[in-house]
Amino acid sequence: MASPSNTSRRLALVGYGKMGHMIEHLAGSQGFDVVLRLDEFNNAHGKGMTREGFQNVDVAIEFSTPETAGENLIRLAEMGVTCVCGATGWAARQLDEVTAAVQKAGTGLVWSPNFSIGVAVFEKLTTLASQLLADESSYGAWGWEIHHDRKKDAPSGTMIRLVELMKSAGYNRTIDVSSNRAGSHPGTHEIGFDSPADTIVLRHTARSREGFALGALKSARWIMGRQGVYTFEDVLFGARHD
Ligand SMILES: NC(=O)c1ccc[n+]([C@@H]2O[C@H](COP(=O)([O-])OP(=O)(O)OC[C@H]3O[C@@H](n4cnc5c(N)ncnc54)[C@H](OP(=O)(O)O)[C@@H]3O)[C@@H](O)[C@H]2O)c1
Repeated sequence: MASPSNTSRRLALVGYGKMGHMIEHLAGSQGFDVVLRLDEFNNAHGKGMTREGFQNVDVAIEFSTPETAGENLIRLAEMGVTCVCGATGWAARQLDEVTAAVQKAGTGLVWSPNFSIGVAVFEKLTTLASQLLADESSYGAWGWEIHHDRKKDAPSGTMIRLVELMKSAGYNRTIDVSSNRAGSHPGTHEIGFDSPADTIVLRHTARSREGFALGALKSARWIMGRQGVYTFEDVLFGARHD
């Protein structure tokens, strides 16, 4: 790993579990210097989220838990801290509230349930297949995903997003979704279409957490100096509202 230089961006890690550690491992090589780490102990009930603690922070990356991420994001916005959030399981409940906080503060946020470039392309393929099969009523659809047995939310945030994309693409029939939690698997997502004549399977298999960490760090570089709420798709394929 390259050592941090004077021009390194100062990074706070909010959530210091498996993803937080992986991001720290890669941060130096991507031009970041980790200056603050908040975990379940020094940030219990948000007590680590102070202006003093964040005064030397350029950008934060949030990978905590479904229960804590939303409150952490609101507090980061209130403190004027721009950030990237990879935690899953909070957006359905709190995205509107978090968006309002970011807009009010004039900060920036990139959020995504999946920071893998391969998954972003997989989502585009899922959208295209759903458009092409929307009016082909002989095709039924399913979604399936598997992750390690410590993952707390199911279905995964990525699977929820894939199903939303299919519906937005005009696929209005039933999409049968199932999840498995077992072993150490970093994450596989599958979207399938089946008819009496044939079967189409689209599958993405993550090999490690490294791809998620690199995507989050790429997003952290991109969001600095921007205002508003974006997704990883905006980072990769162009922002909708720059
Ligand atoms: N977007 C992506 O690409 C992507 C990829 C992988 C994972 N994820 C998601 O990212 C999140 C973290 O994943 P992980 O594998 O790193 O899980 P993890 O190892 O369980 O890490 C989460 C860490 O956050 C800690 N935490 C709890 N409360 C906190 C608080 N108030 N402030 C700060 N940290 C707190 C947790 O402590 P406790 O264990 O004691 O609660 C844990 O150490 C999950 O939601 C996961 O689904 C997203």
